Amino acid sequence: MRDPSRLRDDFPTLSRRRWDGKPLIYFDNAATSLKPRQVIDAVRRYYEDYSANVHRGVYALSQEATELYEESRAEVASFIGCKPSELVFVKNTTEGINLVAYGIKWRPGDGIVSSVMEHHSNMIPWQIVSRRFGLRLSYAEISPPGRVDLESLEEKITENTRLVAICHVSNVLGTMNDVKRIARLAHDHGSLVLVDAAQSVPHMPVNVRDLECDFLTFSGHKLLGPTGIGCLYIREGIEEELDPPFGGGEMIVHVELDGYRLNEMPWRFEPGTPNIAGAIGLAEAVRYLKSVGMDWIREHERMLTARALEILEGLECVEVYGPRNPEERCGIVSFNLRGVSGDLVAALLDEYGNIAVRSGYHCAQPLHKILGIQSSVRASFYLYNTMEELDVFEEVLSRICRELMKES
Ligand SMILES: Cc1ncc(COP(=O)(O)O)c(C=O)c1O
Repeated sequence: MRDPSRLRDDFPTLSRRRWDGKPLIYFDNAATSLKPRQVIDAVRRYYEDYSANVHRGVYALSQEATELYEESRAEVASFIGCKPSELVFVKNTTEGINLVAYGIKWRPGDGIVSSVMEHHSNMIPWQIVSRRFGLRLSYAEISPPGRVDLESLEEKITENTRLVAICHVSNVLGTMNDVKRIARLAHDHGSLVLVDAAQSVPHMPVNVRDLECDFLTFSGHKLLGPTGIGCLYIREGIEEELDPPFGGGEMIVHVELDGYRLNEMPWRFEPGTPNIAGAIGLAEAVRYLKSVGMDWIREHERMLTARALEILEGLECVEVYGPRNPEERCGIVSFNLRGVSGDLVAALLDEYGNIAVRSGYHCAQPLHKILGIQSSVRASFYLYNTMEELDVFEEVLSRICRELMKES
């Protein structure tokens, strides 16, 4: 177990000071996480020491790279409780979802059910393939305090529903969907289930067998790993439901001028040279997270979220979205100052406190419309954030409230 109080020393970005000496307070972890030295070093070691292609050479350097690449797959697979053969390396969550969207051998009249609370990455691909292949796309509603409404979901699922695609954790409200119940509901109707786990895998223990899902995807960059690497879990036995949407080297075992035979899982979905350094860096990130402990991370974020909610609720001019109970959230809190643009609040938090938060609609425009707002300010936490940082946040946000409310 790594000593959590010393975690921060591992993250070089946290030691930066601004021109006025203020340390960075990084509360934009839902967008991407900071990277520990261990991950940066693992990526550097690949490029410096054994930078050869994988699965291609019989010479020692290439074999070393191949071994490390495949060991990385095994490490990440064990992190989410699947076999290495069920874990496809992709670029990010977005690519994982698109791979399924373009891969499924759709039949005319097939249906897709998603929800109104999805990130655009789990919405646009379904809109595109629905238009292209003549599929029926519908969205389950949400019920307070911001979870997929299971009754609404059940109403939308029919015998023609081929896929249910739902997020595990909302990137706006931080709420958690009951994915296991959703999976059972979908399976009862013969439908497959895809889980967008971009906001859950980095922050809590996730096991694909417990969730009973068929596909699950997440991004490495949100869990201390490099950008450009992510994972798509494809449950063993359903790979034949998909045709690889992209072709090229490594995904085949035999090629003729008029045909080919596909490689085994998972390589059939990894055409071309993969992101070798990214996979190695991601495995190092997973080792780091395991050494801290996912239960510890979940609890740490719960305490930070409880404190953040307390601060926000103590300010009269603030409106918070989603549940008040921190037990019902991951470390994400979205809010607005009444009548003030989110961009202005985020810019002032940056100017006065060197506090990085996100403003806008966070790639979830339909959800913002349902909440009756154009945009929001989002603070999102991770293992290296502290209560002291939240004290600064309180001080700076109170100042912003005082100044802006005086003006209005
Ligand atoms: C819930 C959710 N899904 C999908 C994505 C897309 O992730 P990426 O941009 O890494 O593909 C995000 C990113 O913020 C997200 O929060």
